[in-house]
Amino acid sequence: MTINKNLIPDQDWDFKVLKRQILKDKGFDCNQYRDNYVKRRLAIRLRANNVDSYKDYAILLKRDPTEYDELIEALTISVSEFFRDASVFEYFRKTVIPVLIQDKRRKNQKIIRIWSAGCASGEETYSIAILMRDFLGANLGNFLIFVHGTDIDDESMEKAKRGEYTFEELKNVGKGFLSRYFIFDSGKYRVSDKIKGIVKFEKHDLVSGKPLAHFDVIFCRNVSIYFSRDMHKKLYMEFYNALNNDGFFVMGKTEMLCGSARKLFIPVNAREGIYQKKVAKEDTGHPIPTHIHPR
Ligand SMILES: C[S@@+](CC[C@H](N)C(=O)[O-])C[C@H]1O[C@@H](n2cnc3c(N)ncnc32)[C@H](O)[C@@H]1O
Repeated sequence: MTINKNLIPDQDWDFKVLKRQILKDKGFDCNQYRDNYVKRRLAIRLRANNVDSYKDYAILLKRDPTEYDELIEALTISVSEFFRDASVFEYFRKTVIPVLIQDKRRKNQKIIRIWSAGCASGEETYSIAILMRDFLGANLGNFLIFVHGTDIDDESMEKAKRGEYTFEELKNVGKGFLSRYFIFDSGKYRVSDKIKGIVKFEKHDLVSGKPLAHFDVIFCRNVSIYFSRDMHKKLYMEFYNALNNDGFFVMGKTEMLCGSARKLFIPVNAREGIYQKKVAKEDTGHPIPTHIHPR
């Protein structure tokens, strides 16, 4: 079904009313997403329900609130992969992790906190945890590693917590990692406790959730593409504030910093979407840039 363009004035009004209803009933703020994106996702649900106006869809949602689950699912596309964009993880492993560890040693700090924001079903979070654990090896005991995966989608969070994946879902995981960090059980691969022990999943809405803080690295990849420009600006500033000094921000390869955040982050490897929190000299006593020479 295509939305009839002749109906636009009414539909525009009904679209606003529908967005307000969704916010009131489910706390999901469509206004923070791009309108075109929300309309495209709504069109899928209208088609699935054989409904041809936003007004009728709003009535349907009232009559059958279970449709909200389908709608939120459609609005929050949870496609992900282990080690998605291999070159990003390769750079993270080879360059960012060693710098991070060296910095922690220099500062005599043990705690390393990493946030995988909008982590879908845990693939990104577990990929990070595997790299951290593998890099530290016998030195793991010298550090306290926390890899925090958050997402707005309940179903994704459930799957992430289970940590069970098919062979197909693990196609990007090398044989070494597969044998060291997964257990084959009843036709599926389960993430081992060695990795689960450093990972925590929690439902969190990047739009309306409480601000999180004190992270050494934040990954937020392929999430902000759906957000409005204002939300983009707000989100990047929130990440900036949530990072420790010299902390790293990893964004999707097709995403771009905007607003004040553009001046606050140093590109470490812009091609791979990796940035570092820039702290004014007078705040830290250290020169800028800190450790990695920008590319
Ligand atoms: C395309 S996936 C990206 C997953 C992973 N970061 C990656 O790059 O493979 C986008 C994820 O963002 C989540 N998401 C969308 N809006 C969100 C919000 N307001 N708060 C938290 N997560 C959100 C979706 O549920 C979905 O799991």
